[in-house]
Amino acid sequence: MSNEASTSGNETLTIRDNRTGHDYEIPITDGTIAAKDLGQIKAADDQPGIATYDPGFVNTASCRSAVTYIDGEKGILEYRGYPIEQLAEKSSFLEVAYLLIHGALPTKEEMDAWVHEITYHTFVHENVKSFMEGFRYDAHPMGMLMASVGALSTFYPDARNIGDPDNRHMQMVRMIAKMPTLGAWSYRHAQGKPFIYPDNDLGYTANFLSMLFKMSEKKFEADERLVKALDVLFILHADHEQNCSTNAVRSVGSSEVDPYSAVAAGVAALYGPLHGGANEAVLRMLRRIGSKSEIPAFIEGVKNGNEKLMGFGHRVYKNYDPRAKIIKKSAEDVFEVTGTNPLLDIAKELEKIALEDDYFVSRKLYPNVDFYSGLIYEAFEFPPEMFTVLFAIGRTPGWLAQWLELVQDKDQKIARPKQIYTGDRQLTFVPSSERWA
Ligand code: SDX
Repeated sequence: MSNEASTSGNETLTIRDNRTGHDYEIPITDGTIAAKDLGQIKAADDQPGIATYDPGFVNTASCRSAVTYIDGEKGILEYRGYPIEQLAEKSSFLEVAYLLIHGALPTKEEMDAWVHEITYHTFVHENVKSFMEGFRYDAHPMGMLMASVGALSTFYPDARNIGDPDNRHMQMVRMIAKMPTLGAWSYRHAQGKPFIYPDNDLGYTANFLSMLFKMSEKKFEADERLVKALDVLFILHADHEQNCSTNAVRSVGSSEVDPYSAVAAGVAALYGPLHGGANEAVLRMLRRIGSKSEIPAFIEGVKNGNEKLMGFGHRVYKNYDPRAKIIKKSAEDVFEVTGTNPLLDIAKELEKIALEDDYFVSRKLYPNVDFYSGLIYEAFEFPPEMFTVLFAIGRTPGWLAQWLELVQDKDQKIARPKQIYTGDRQLTFVPSSERWA
């Protein structure tokens, strides 16, 4: 929603209830009306007032937020007012994490303290190892991550004290610091490889790569170009206003539960193929298409409703997702190091055909953040089931910034929407002994 005033200056709606002939003046604020103002519109005094019905909250604002701004028509994305293109080119993931959570860029002292705190909180309690070893050998890393993040709430019971700023700060530092450790260990478990402990000599993203790929060498050596590319990907995934997983974090957080449990709900929502799981689904889709010659048949399947073009479409962007543009460029940088991915040619051809096809153009379906990211992750030799774990590591500061805004927002209360009841009423219960006689 924007907060530009209209030309007339009369920021109200006049609503006539034709059931009663009554008119109501409803104020417009920041391009919205308050749903509670509709409650006064009743067919009779003993009737419930009007509510709104909005599955998926397609046209409902759930909060006021200063964290991220998106203009879907113009393909604009800004974190705390800074364009994503500038942050991706000139900042670092930990600096962006600081910006999202604190609302301003850090001074040198603030950044040094921030990096030090996060570096020295990357270890997890040894018991985390033993319960991660309890997962099946082929457990999906996102299932392991979801469980592990939730389990952290049992290691830090003081996290329930969400009213204490210092406590909130400590839990947010821990979560940003430990997400890569949990993500890497989920991968190592699935690979049947020993867990690698954090190496505090390394930067945040290089340390993550070390915990993922280090074997018997003394010190893990990452190619700086790959570290930079992954750091940019984390920046691009860091926040995205009220997406499905952020809505889950806010909804669960509205019960005043600890932030680990709220973020675990975000991990669960991100796992879905319509959301963060799409990057994994894109890779599987490209592999299934197999060659450029198979693209027309696949596109037909999409138009017939038998398929979705994964990595395309977005609730907000009705133009090219600005992140997809940056990722597409990043892919070239990565492929210089790793060698190109034959699936990239299929992806580019698929994009070219889709952007010329009226089915996609009329529905304003463009590549989103997930369309190209999987190709880069595969170049890092991540298996597809790890792609959404990478998304979750990047999104953690955004979830926490939104959670922090929620707990400090006086407007907010526990999430408890209404419903339209469609079931039976006032049935007479017959005990099973009589029903089955
Ligand atoms: C992310 O919200 C965020 O900000 C999310 C995210 C973030 O950073 O947090 O950006 C990350 O989740 C990106 C989206 C990743 N998901 C996918 O790539 C999965 C494929 N995309 C779709 O499932 C879909 O586009 C959604 C879920 C992303 C958006 O769905 P909407 O907004 O509810 O749109 P819709 O399903 O109502 O679609 C409108 C029309 C429909 O056709 P009709 O019924 O009008 O005939 O477009 C069609 C849809 O069938 N459509 C698609 C399509 N996406 C929408 N048709 C084919 N392929 C697709 N991908």
